[in-house]
Amino acid sequence: MIFQSFSLLNLLMKQASSGDSKKIVGVFYKANEYATKNPNFLGCVENALGIRDWLESQGHQYIVTDDKEGPDCELEKHIPDLHVLISTPFHPAYVTAERIKKAKNLKLLLTAGIGSDHIDLQAAAAAGLTVAEVTGSNVVSVAEDELMRILILMRNFVPGYNQVVKGEWNVAGIAYRAYDLEGKTIGTVGAGRIGKLLLQRLKPFGCNLLYHDRLQMAPELEKETGAKFVEDLNEMLPKCDVIVINMPLTEKTRGMFNKELIGKLKKGVLIVNNARGAIMERQAVVDAVESGHIGGYSGDVWDPQPAPKDHPWRYMPNQAMTPHTSGTTIDAQLRYAAGTKDMLERYFKGEDFPTENYIVKDGELAPQYR
Ligand SMILES: NC(=O)c1ccc[n+]([C@@H]2O[C@H](COP(=O)([O-])OP(=O)(O)OC[C@H]3O[C@@H](n4cnc5c(N)ncnc54)[C@H](O)[C@@H]3O)[C@@H](O)[C@H]2O)c1
Repeated sequence: MIFQSFSLLNLLMKQASSGDSKKIVGVFYKANEYATKNPNFLGCVENALGIRDWLESQGHQYIVTDDKEGPDCELEKHIPDLHVLISTPFHPAYVTAERIKKAKNLKLLLTAGIGSDHIDLQAAAAAGLTVAEVTGSNVVSVAEDELMRILILMRNFVPGYNQVVKGEWNVAGIAYRAYDLEGKTIGTVGAGRIGKLLLQRLKPFGCNLLYHDRLQMAPELEKETGAKFVEDLNEMLPKCDVIVINMPLTEKTRGMFNKELIGKLKKGVLIVNNARGAIMERQAVVDAVESGHIGGYSGDVWDPQPAPKDHPWRYMPNQAMTPHTSGTTIDAQLRYAAGTKDMLERYFKGEDFPTENYIVKDGELAPQYR
């Protein structure tokens, strides 16, 4: 036992003196009283992806915080000397060009989840940093959640739930705008991993499925889902009763759903957006929901996050919004924690990551972010 402690101490000292010891900072949401309620609840500050003992046993320093905003926050203190930053889209640490400039030791930015738009990717590329995410880790979680949101909006579920809690009973107040999903036209903007899983899940509902993407799917998958490719987004959108957003936030997609584009949609269209809040122009959504042009809006993504108390989407009618939860189910957490550990392990050994995980590598952005 004493011998083991000595050899561990030796290893730590050797690593520290050889410069192999890395300072790793993780930014996650805090779980407080929920942290001990589930042993697999890995994605919070308290449980820190379950990699603390492993990292520390190898002589690395691991600092974890949820304090990510403003000049005096905990994250800011570690920017000048951290080597690796692990962040998540659920409680995004905004990695601006200014922060990148200050981070003299930074080499690697890992996203525990999918979607690295909280990082200034151009600045990261220019600084020669690597950005990688756990591609595929929560795509089933998000696709299932989108299906739920489509049904919640179509059936006008939220007012019914609110009536029950408030001790009310008014069938008419719900039924006048509740519909079946069968026979409706549903279009996904973006048919990558999540979009395809959603189309597969929608198939048994008997809808008319459309998709727009920069790339057409394999013919076998088109056949399996029955979804039709529409090359021109402006041609697809006005046909849809339901629009689901499934593309990344990029320079091209930021603010894409503005007043003009929303004006071309079918009156009463339902929109589900679990992709990123900033793909929508905030006030254009509020105005269209208030006028009834958008019949219902649901999603779990906001700009910024956490959403401030006065964010207008909290207070608009016919919304079914939640905090950013769809991709952080316990099953997803286990997958993105394992994927993050795998990439750290490879990084320490000087090995490459799975190709699809790279978002920025050798000064280049991944194709879906260009
Ligand atoms: N809410 C959550 O918890 C959560 C979790 C995971 C992912 N997401 C979001 O969902 C997005 C999609 O995830 P994914 O795993 O399906 O990614 P993916 O890379 O597999 O698919 C993205 C698709 O979008 C397409 N695309 C990119 N730019 C486009 C454009 N301008 N017009 C049309 N199509 C475009 C790409 O060609 C690709 O097919 C992520 O980038 C992320 O922002 C959210």
